[in-house]
Amino acid sequence: MTALVEHRRDPRPGPRVATAMRHERALMRAAHPLAFPLLDRVPGPVRRVPGLGVLVKDAALLRGVLMDTAGFTKNGPGAPSDLWTPVLGPSVLLNMEGADHAALRRRLAPLFAPAAVEALVAEGLGAATRELSEALGRGESVDLVAHARRGASAVIARLVGLEPEEGAAAVVDDELFRRVAAITGYVTLARPRLTPRQVARARGVLEELGAHARRAYAGDESTVPGRMRALGLDEREALGAVGAFVLTGTETIVSSLPRIAALLIDSGLLGWAGEHPARADAAIHEGLRVTTPSPMMLRAATRPGRIGDVAVRAGDRILLGTWWADRAGGDFDPERNPAASLKQLWFGAGAHYCLGAPLAMAQLRLALGALLAHPRLEVAARRPARGVLIPGYAELTVRVP
Ligand code: HEM
Repeated sequence: MTALVEHRRDPRPGPRVATAMRHERALMRAAHPLAFPLLDRVPGPVRRVPGLGVLVKDAALLRGVLMDTAGFTKNGPGAPSDLWTPVLGPSVLLNMEGADHAALRRRLAPLFAPAAVEALVAEGLGAATRELSEALGRGESVDLVAHARRGASAVIARLVGLEPEEGAAAVVDDELFRRVAAITGYVTLARPRLTPRQVARARGVLEELGAHARRAYAGDESTVPGRMRALGLDEREALGAVGAFVLTGTETIVSSLPRIAALLIDSGLLGWAGEHPARADAAIHEGLRVTTPSPMMLRAATRPGRIGDVAVRAGDRILLGTWWADRAGGDFDPERNPAASLKQLWFGAGAHYCLGAPLAMAQLRLALGALLAHPRLEVAARRPARGVLIPGYAELTVRVP
């Protein structure tokens, strides 16, 4: 009880929270130096932006679009299918709709059941997390971006079915990680399609991972691709799913872990969050709300209609500004926890709600748990990542003073 009182803080948003929020905005600007200031200036809740599409910044309207799968699709001009179908093939969840999409999700769901996720995270990340905690305990400086990259690589290795004894670390190394991250780096708002050269490069990286996944698919159920075969996926569906997981679930984690850690340290709430598991969870949700690692979702309108006061034509590109919708809840405040009312909008909503959300939460809980054991942690160095699709730090070095 004493500890709870010790870390209770002034309920007014303090200057430290303001600093934390400034660092966050700087990450958005560094990632998207042209698009972010432009879109940031567009007033909400919904507005047509010439040359780009219809921008939605209001949480309720945005959720309405996500839930209306007849009116808005991921397949269509300027929608995600334009980007990912040439790289991943036509049937990889994030470019599917309707009954086929629902059926594939149902078959993949057991991979993300709590027990499966806990096992994946404990086997893949347990040792690295212990090392992180011990290094901090010894007073060493640790770059949380490098740590998150190693963790993401370990998870990729498991998703493609590489066992540690096969030298997974040598196959999924920093170089491969950089090449995976380069794929999403090709994407910009103004150019919603990849060039033939970019498609060829992206396919090259995924082919390399696919070769391992193909071997694992043919093997027993102890690997993720082997399990997919047991769940009834044919080889093409399994390889497509692996590619989709690698593309969607890597950078989002590498972005979110250091950013949530920085928010907690910058705002002075690390000690508060470490005092109870419920507080740690609130801090993760609130951190995901404020960071919204996947800041925008895209759809194409299938028929004429309206979003709020704005008329929409069939074929219109819809820019769902989740980052702004989530920000309407105010500054980072895990005590008040405005994230609770948003129903995890940062993971999407409806038919395409993030399939990997349980895996993401398990990874964040594990890593944050290691950091929360060091309430005096401070940021020793930070550098934003420039010109990337998913905003984040290029370096966030922390240490216990
Ligand atoms: C903090 C981390 C993450 C965030 C913020 C995030 C966010 C999102 C969002 C917003 C969507 C919906 C996109 C849309 O409707 O257009 C989505 C979909 C998806 N995510 Fe995540 N994601 C994260 C981690 C992961 C992980 C770790 C995986 C798997 C390894 C994953 C796999 C997927 C897949 C497969 C979809 C497509 C689902 C479908 O279309 O049915 N995500 N994610």
